[in-house]
Amino acid sequence: MSPSDQPSVRLRPEIVALPAYRQGKAADAAAFKLSSNENPFDPLPGVVEAVNAVSTFNRYPDASALALRERLAARFGLTADEVHIGAGSVALLAQLIQAAAGPGDEVLYSWRSFEAYPSLVTVSGATSVRVPNRADHGHDLPAMAAKITDQTRVVIVCSPNNPTGVIVTADEFAAFMAQVPADLLVILDEAYAEFVTDPAAVNGPSLLGRYPNLVVLRTFSKAYGLAGLRVGYGLGPVGILNAARSTAIPLSVTGQGSAAALASIDAEPELLARVGVIAARRDSIRAALVDAGLAVPPSQANFIWLPLGEETAAAADTFTAAGLVVRPFHPEGIRVSIGEEESVETLLRITAEIVQDLPTGHPARRLG
Ligand SMILES: Cc1ncc(COP(=O)(O)O)c(C=O)c1O
Repeated sequence: MSPSDQPSVRLRPEIVALPAYRQGKAADAAAFKLSSNENPFDPLPGVVEAVNAVSTFNRYPDASALALRERLAARFGLTADEVHIGAGSVALLAQLIQAAAGPGDEVLYSWRSFEAYPSLVTVSGATSVRVPNRADHGHDLPAMAAKITDQTRVVIVCSPNNPTGVIVTADEFAAFMAQVPADLLVILDEAYAEFVTDPAAVNGPSLLGRYPNLVVLRTFSKAYGLAGLRVGYGLGPVGILNAARSTAIPLSVTGQGSAAALASIDAEPELLARVGVIAARRDSIRAALVDAGLAVPPSQANFIWLPLGEETAAAADTFTAAGLVVRPFHPEGIRVSIGEEESVETLLRITAEIVQDLPTGHPARRLG
């Protein structure tokens, strides 16, 4: 921060020190944007029409998005009050953390995971407790359970994990929940659930009746391609969701967002067919990269993780020069979203070159 950017009023020092959310880099016209886990398909015409039909934006939207809540409730066998809509699931994360944790409290999550978690916790005044991912890039749930203290107010479990793509299995989750006190809020962040093809994966909605301390978060941003309209939803016990409603900034979910989500549910067969295309593309990209000698963890999301370690920043530059905008987390690795079919050939070619240049014995080199 330059001296002229120093705030002239007394602000919370932990907020002044907090880096602002860093969005995946934009791509110029000739490049592919593979940095934000967006859906590469254009919006469906029917969804665009539904959005355009909401023209009464001189009026406030329905604050609780009741029509959408009812639709989702019917789908998941819940009441409308067991569904809460937010301006993206990141808003719901913020609301739930604020509702449960403040100064002196702890919020526990695996790391590396979704980059918004640390700042959301800091904003709430609570303290992050991060448990390193396992060597295979999945959550170490036994180690997380061991970190629960009297101060812990929220545990976030992300499956598939952003940015590594690794799932938590249903069995791992059940064993974990057996160790979690019933009065501790567990948020299961399933932003990429629709891309999961492994039947062993945890499935949040199927567990809601079983755990009174569980909230499941999903989003229309990724599989449904509505990232720009900001609609996510939480499923869980009414008492917890009511607390989230109390911390929410009112009226953040727009009428256009709700209409787009409803139209997307109507168009689900077509949208899920697209999800199938992306999941198949993901699997074939990963198989090709493993064949090329790179230790890419099995991803169940719409991105893959290249654990390039110290080579991360240089490799990201190589991708950029080749017209692929990726998301580097130096010195851990690069997350690459599964994008347009036309991006695949370059992705495979550049990654193969990067693998060739890795020093012998580099952990990203596949053994054997
Ligand atoms: C794991 C995870 N959770 C939540 C979100 C938030 O998505 P949105 O606010 O668009 O619903 C993201 C977005 O990248 C994510 O990766």
